[in-house]
Amino acid sequence: MALAVSSKIYFVLLSFLFSFSATAQPYTNVTSGSLITANNANSTWESPSGEFAFGFQQIVPGAYLLAIWFNKIPERTIVWSANRDNLVGEGSKIQLFEDERFELSDPKGQQIWAATLSGVGVAYGAMLDTGNFVLVKNNSVVLWQSFDEPTDTLLPTQTLNQDGRLVSSFSKTNYSRGRFLFTLQSDGNLVSYTRNFPMDEMNFAYWATQTTGSGFKVVFNQAGYIFLVAKNGSVLNVLSSNADSTSQFYQRAILEYDGVLRHYVYPKSANSAGARVMAWSTMNFIPSNICMRIVERTGSGACGFNSFCSMGTDQIPKCECPIGYSFIDPNDRMSGCYPNFAPQNCDEEARETELFSITDMPNTDWPLSDYAHFQQVTEDWCRQVCLNDCFCAAVIYRDGNCWKKKYPLSNGIVDSSVEGKAMIKIRNNNGTTY
Ligand SMILES: *[C@@H]1O[C@H](CO)[C@@H](O)[C@H](O)[C@H]1NC(C)=O
Ligand SMILES: *[C@@H]1O[C@H](CO)[C@@H](O)[C@H](O)[C@H]1NC(C)=O
Ligand SMILES: *[C@@H]1O[C@H](CO)[C@@H](O)[C@H](O)[C@H]1NC(C)=O
Ligand SMILES: *[C@@H]1O[C@H](CO)[C@@H](O)[C@H](O)[C@H]1NC(C)=O
Ligand SMILES: *[C@@H]1O[C@H](CO)[C@@H](O)[C@H](O)[C@H]1NC(C)=O
Ligand SMILES: *[C@@H]1O[C@H](CO)[C@@H](O)[C@H](O)[C@H]1NC(C)=O
Repeated sequence: MALAVSSKIYFVLLSFLFSFSATAQPYTNVTSGSLITANNANSTWESPSGEFAFGFQQIVPGAYLLAIWFNKIPERTIVWSANRDNLVGEGSKIQLFEDERFELSDPKGQQIWAATLSGVGVAYGAMLDTGNFVLVKNNSVVLWQSFDEPTDTLLPTQTLNQDGRLVSSFSKTNYSRGRFLFTLQSDGNLVSYTRNFPMDEMNFAYWATQTTGSGFKVVFNQAGYIFLVAKNGSVLNVLSSNADSTSQFYQRAILEYDGVLRHYVYPKSANSAGARVMAWSTMNFIPSNICMRIVERTGSGACGFNSFCSMGTDQIPKCECPIGYSFIDPNDRMSGCYPNFAPQNCDEEARETELFSITDMPNTDWPLSDYAHFQQVTEDWCRQVCLNDCFCAAVIYRDGNCWKKKYPLSNGIVDSSVEGKAMIKIRNNNGTTY
């Protein structure tokens, strides 16, 4: 993803850098007293073009997310939300009050979320065509904007300032805060981390621009370029460059539930699509192979415990279970895997060694967290030492080295660059004894 910035691109970047204004467009005014109720009437505040809408999306029956979404495509893709960790019931309301509170309350009137204004004198709110919802004063001074509080997505004309962060969703369909975050740190370094779920801490950095001392803000400009700039405006790092224009394509950058930051485009009409399909397609993504990047001392790695990660030819990381294992939640492939057989008996008299066998998994590794390591041994010796040890879940064999692994297995990876193999122990016949 290292891109040389030609002087032509550089000019495009700079000329778009300061060319947007949140107030230069017409808008539908959300005036004092305006409200939307969460129910199946689907009322919304739309931007003048109708491309974005603000309102409630029903996520599961009876549970709503206050959100902004792309409103003209069938996918209704959500770009911002207020209450991702706290869905609200039918009858909840978002209202702009006379006293300038902009508040989401549940059917009992309890406040669930409220905008924190930077001053007083709200004249109206507006859903802009950029996808930004703003609360402004009479003189158009912005007192609050959704662009300042991103969830997992950045849109063209949006910036991410120091201390700004994107937190991935838990899964494709569950919008609550999940396992990864992407942040422009106050020291200027732009970093992707695993999140110490369910706590809101960073665990392991798996991608960074190495711009400590110089990174100032991330800009997603009108031309569809995403880059990190220094305070003096010079481009430090190009995250994505794009040949598709924002007038012809909807665009977004999202830190997805799998930890990958992807820049997507979607043709605004079949006429403008060119070679592209009428769907979200990926322009660029970071990092290039997340499976290889995450090797953390604590935590499960890019996939869940006891699973392994592989990069598909479609460039999407896949989490899979070893043979003899099943997903803990079949609907969430990052939930990890459990052995669908009873563990080996540790009793000296009934070791059951003959009831287990070892299955080879070429180019597979579960790095870190070994509990025993032997050198200058044969593969067969390594296999036997695991079969004879009731604690042993798997062994890694490489160049005469044998590493014993116990549960849960973490940082699982299968990749052609991984040398050696994993050998996993499974019960031969799980039905007879249990
Ligand atoms: C929105 O409110 C502002 C300030 O009151 C006013 O100038 C503008 O004409 C209003 N726009 C619409 C579309 O009602
Ligand atoms: C609201 O949206 C839902 C789901 O898209 C649809 O089934 C329902 O008919 C809509 N209701 C109204 C009143 O438009
Ligand atoms: C906005 O301006 C109008 C006309 O100048 C004035 O009547 C109104 O009180 C102002 N509203 C606020 C909230 O300042
Ligand atoms: C989403 O995932 C979180 C974290 O596991 C869970 O607490 C929450 O109940 C899930 N929400 C829905 C709507 O399934
Ligand atoms: C702008 O800032 C960067 C990083 O701090 C620095 O490397 C570069 O020399 C500066 N450029 C100019 C023209 O001052
Ligand atoms: C164990 O038995 C279950 C049910 O018969 C089967 O689905 C599973 O694949 C078996 N596991 C192994 C390791 O053979």
